[in-house]
Formats: sequence, C-alpha cells, structure tokens
Amino acid sequence: TVLVVDFGAQYAQLIARRVRECHVFSEIVPSTMPAAEMLAKKPKAIILSGGPASVYEEGAPAAPEGLFEIGVPTLGICYGHQVMAQALGGVVANSEVAEYGGAEIAVTTPGMLFEGMPARQAVWMSHRDFVSAAPEGFTVTAATDVTPVAGMEDRERGFYGVQFHPEVLHTEHGMEVLRRFLYEGAGCRPAWTMVNIADEAIEEIRAQVGDKRAICGLSGGVDSAVAAALVQRAIGSQLTCVFVDHGLLRKGEPEQVEKDFVAATGVNLHVVNAQDRFLDALEGVTDPETKRKIIGREFIRVFEEAAREIVGSSAEEVEFLVQGTLYPDVVESGGGTGAANIKSHHNVGGLPEDLQFTLVEPLRTLFKDEVRALGEQLGLPAEIVWRQPFPGPGLGIRIIGAVNRERLEILRDADAIAREELTRAGLDREIWQFPVVLLADVRSVGVQGDGRTYGHPIVLRPVTSEDAMTADWARLPYEVLSKISTRITNEVREVNRVVVDVTSKPPGTIEWE
Ligand code: XMP
Repeated sequence: TVLVVDFGAQYAQLIARRVRECHVFSEIVPSTMPAAEMLAKKPKAIILSGGPASVYEEGAPAAPEGLFEIGVPTLGICYGHQVMAQALGGVVANSEVAEYGGAEIAVTTPGMLFEGMPARQAVWMSHRDFVSAAPEGFTVTAATDVTPVAGMEDRERGFYGVQFHPEVLHTEHGMEVLRRFLYEGAGCRPAWTMVNIADEAIEEIRAQVGDKRAICGLSGGVDSAVAAALVQRAIGSQLTCVFVDHGLLRKGEPEQVEKDFVAATGVNLHVVNAQDRFLDALEGVTDPETKRKIIGREFIRVFEEAAREIVGSSAEEVEFLVQGTLYPDVVESGGGTGAANIKSHHNVGGLPEDLQFTLVEPLRTLFKDEVRALGEQLGLPAEIVWRQPFPGPGLGIRIIGAVNRERLEILRDADAIAREELTRAGLDREIWQFPVVLLADVRSVGVQGDGRTYGHPIVLRPVTSEDAMTADWARLPYEVLSKISTRITNEVREVNRVVVDVTSKPPGTIEWE
C-alpha cells in the first residue's frame, strides 16, 4: 500500500485516486497518525499531500515525529514538500507573491523524477510559501521564476519533493512524475487491478458472512448494485435483495432493477410495490424538507417490514446488512469502522435498534470511478454502471409543488426525452447530472396549433461537477437543447415551455429542492 498523509481537505483524495490509477493501492491517513502506526501498515511509499496551512502558522500540521527515519521512500507535494524541506533542515520562506494556477517549471537537473521528460513543463501551482533552500543532501531538480526549489530530491535516502501539484490534470506530466516516484523511486508494482480487487473482496465477504444470511437494499443506483453483485458472487443464495418501488423513480428504472440486474447477477430479489403508500403520505405536501422526511421515513418503514418478513421466514439467521458505502464517506467520517459510518442521507441508514445487523461494506475502500469499473468487471448492465447520481427522494424533489400521479407521469415523460437525447448526442459521461424539473404550480401562456395553451414549464438543469460539492451549468450544444425542447413540448401533454437553468453551485444547488 501507499500511504497518502492528509494535510488538508480535498488534496489527499485526488492523490489517492491518481496512485490507484497507476494500479497501486493507496490509503489516506491523517497527518496526526504516529509514524510507528504508519510503519505497521507496511507502506511501500508515503506521499505527503498539499494543504491550506503555512508551516509557520501556529498549530500548522507537521510530519509525524520520526517519519523521515523509518526508511520508506517519501514524496512531498506542495505543503508536503515544504514540510519535508523544513523537517530535514532546508528553509521555507514567506513570499509576497503567490503562485496560483498555471505555471511553467524549468527542469534544472532531471534527477529521478523528471528523467526523460522535457526541460520545460506546464504545471499547476497553488502556494504562497516556498522552499528557498533545499536541505543538505538534496539536489534541486526544478525551478520557476518565483520558486527557486520547485523540485528536489535525495535519491539515496528516497526523499522527493515537488512544489506543484502532479495530481491535477493541468500538470502536463503529473501522472508521469507520480508513476516514476511509485515504480522507480519506491519499487511499487502495478498489481492492483479490478480482477484482483473483485477476487479479494469476494474472499473477504465469504470470511465475514460464513454460512449466515444477508440482506441488501437496492436503490437502482450504482453503489448498491455493485455491492449486491459482489456479495452475490461471494455467498450466492444466502443474499436477498430488497427493492422498494416508491413510485418516484424515472422511466425504465424499476425494470432495470427487476429484470436487467436480476438477469445479470441471478440475485434473489424481493420487490415491494409501495407506490400508493408513498403517494398517500406525500399528498398535498410542498415543503422540500418535509417531502424528504416523509420519503425517508416511509422508506425505512417499508424496508423494515420487508426485512422482518425475510428474517422471519428464514430458518438460518439473517445477520448481515450490505451497504454500498464508498471510500470518500469513510474518509470524511474519520475513517473509523462499523455502524457509525452509515451515511446520514443513506436510505437504509436509520434502521431501528431492534433490527440489528452487522454491516457488510465491500466498497468501503473504493472511489466512485473504481466502483463503476468493478461493476463492468462483474458484468452489470451499462445503464446501471453508468447511471448518473440520483437523489434518494427521486422525482419527489423534482416536482416543485405537491407530488401526485399525473405530475409524476408528466415529469417522467419529459425526463425520458432529455435523457434519450443526451445519450444520442454522446454526452452521458461528460454530464455529471441532468435533473429535469417540473414547475407544477406555475403556468404560462403558449400557442400550439391554432390554440392558446396554458401549461407548465419544464426546467433543464444539466451540470458538470467532480463531486457534487460545487458544480457548473453544462454548456450543452444548442442543437441538443433545441431537440429536447421541441420533443418535450410536442410529446408531453401539459408542457408548453422548456427553460434552461444557467446557475452554478454555489449559489444554486444542483437540485431545485
Ligand atoms: P444539491 O442539490 O444539494 O445536491 O446540490 C448535491 C447532490 O446530492 C444529491 N441529493 C440527494 N441525495 N438524498 C440523496 O440521496 C437527498 O435528499 C438528496 N438531495 C440532493 C443531488 O442529486 C446531488 O447529486
């Protein structure tokens, strides 16, 4: 494993992902972890991440004591580079001028990291402090106009530092730099592949569950689907999946779960049709948070009833609950283990105390893109593996106004057209999410044929994003927008106007409610 020492939000996760793209397993650890504990994980290499602090600030995170004596090849990035320089006797200076964004480094000595690479390279920088003198024993390998030590290394001791961010795409040769560090500098081998990941996960699940039984809630989303498929491979018919059809899914999605997923995996599926129950509970409700609470509450009740039925009907014990928890959730909740880590917004997160299950979380070391690759490896249908994120409350929070059957029908039709045209234009994977929203309480005047109409607007909300924390409105080609607009107004009754949301997040959110 490669340990990525986290000195600040956001940087570490991207580095960890890039290391895995080099087919080397990586794990994020806090910078407060003692060096001995790190060493116990038998790391082949250590990477010190960037971070927002200055080494001179009071309480600035430092490298764990003794880290540079444990004999593990180490790469410092940005703040990590400065921490390394300071700890080993170099000098870190404050600068009047910050360097944010694109810059160019001049490679002064190729050394190990830059061997065989161009002498000038575009890189991404984000710093104010800089290393003004490298520690003794180090060679300076790169510089920019404002940063005298943009790269340094002490090959003998296995220490490497770069001021720029090799993990971001704007750094031209960033991946090459990382690869050179991992393979040449640390002797890692590219052995972490999807086949190995699947095999190992299946072994682990078997060891954990033994001959007991497990249940898993399917939402139609990629995480629960891949988790269920893995567990199915591991324990076969000892697993039962529960799919609650709350009537708030998009066109074709219940069928994807009930037919395609079952066909691809052979899983035992227990379907609960709870459409009426959800619609009754939502009748007349317009407040977004109240909608969420109602949907969440009903979901738990229905799931619980189904679980009790399954538990009650089985001779063997049902001891395990499968969850599609991903690595970012684990990292963000402090990296602990067990029940404390259930996502707060997860649909089956709030199961009552008297239904006690031990969690099986086979995806807890994986990032989203890795889960998709694993889903493909397991032979799941592309519609499921490449499905965009979809909120648990579903179309319930994409109808602005009260939710009812007719409105759901209208929205489902409009949404299906938008998705179809996006796919036809080959843009599925570029768009993070494409909410289609019905303004059910708004009417506007239109003209269709020879007659005046008084219908509802549909809002298109295509966005690009990395992680849903921030987002930008997607610049869909006019022809695609035009096609969607024409088709929706022609084919969907009650809709006579289509508008596009051009707000970024912040200040807007991705969803309208
Ligand atoms: P916003 O609208 O806050 O959404 O920008 C950020 C991401 O979260 C999804 N989302 C939800 N997911 N339950 C969920 O499981 C919810 O109540 C919920 N609300 C928003 C949204 O689709 C986007 O990906």
